Amino acid sequence: LEINTIAELKAMLSSERAKGKTIGFVPTMGYFHDGHLTLMREAASKADVVVVSIFVNPTQFGPNEDLDKYPQDLKHDRALAAGAGVDYLFVPSVDEMYPAGFKTFVEVEGITEGLCGRGRPGHFKGVATVVAKLLNIVKPEVAFFGEKDWQQLVVIKRMVADLNMDVQIVGVPTVREADGLAMSSRNSYLSARDRQAALALSKTLARANELVEAGERNAAKLMQKLRDFLATEKRVELEYIEAVDPESLAPVDEVKGDVLIALAARVGGTRLIDNTVIRQKLENSSDLF
Ligand code: PAF
Repeated sequence: LEINTIAELKAMLSSERAKGKTIGFVPTMGYFHDGHLTLMREAASKADVVVVSIFVNPTQFGPNEDLDKYPQDLKHDRALAAGAGVDYLFVPSVDEMYPAGFKTFVEVEGITEGLCGRGRPGHFKGVATVVAKLLNIVKPEVAFFGEKDWQQLVVIKRMVADLNMDVQIVGVPTVREADGLAMSSRNSYLSARDRQAALALSKTLARANELVEAGERNAAKLMQKLRDFLATEKRVELEYIEAVDPESLAPVDEVKGDVLIALAARVGGTRLIDNTVIRQKLENSSDLF
């Protein structure tokens, strides 16, 4: 069931709530792939009613980014959502979400400054603002986000805690193509040659795991080895690769415990991101438990 206005969605969901139904929410920008469908199925397994939004949020795109050409296929999305057990597809217009006079933004400090925040100033302010609005409109018990956008997930968890929002935020593991490429709507921009070159991203993360396994614990040395490895793929232009704490996103010097390796790169003009969490047992933790 597709709904385009906030008032109508609120009315429908308040009658669901009155019937005692729990609501699971998946915010998206559309152009669905298996990653989105996994979030929807996850929502269907954890809540009675599944709400999915499709909104290409202009406030999270920079002036030189791909807002104008962001891929869209609403007809296809409707069919996929119906097959994934979605009850309400919320597709608001830009004016519906940002009417004349709109003045309020949500800014999460610190954790939005590094990683993707450095190359995309203002991006997370737009994300936090639209997600806060969507959570206030839908008022779900639980909302689902892909771990491919790890920093986004951390930012939203922080916002929800800081603003005392009554919603559980669930991160869902990245869904990959058979050859390792992380699913993304932006993969549709890639030419066949760039699509092949883009495999270097997930291969670099696999290499990170191998190098740590083989004993590399110095984060700076590990990052240098990974940069060298990625540099062999000439079509890939690295923006950053960093080793950080998965929760605070603070850079780490040493690879111990859980460490997030996150990267962003351009392949033929298309900006792609990927990450992996290297999980290691701490030295004195027991195998018995
Ligand atoms: O991850 C996305 O698709 C977007 O950033 C989100 C969470 C839907 C906000 O516009």
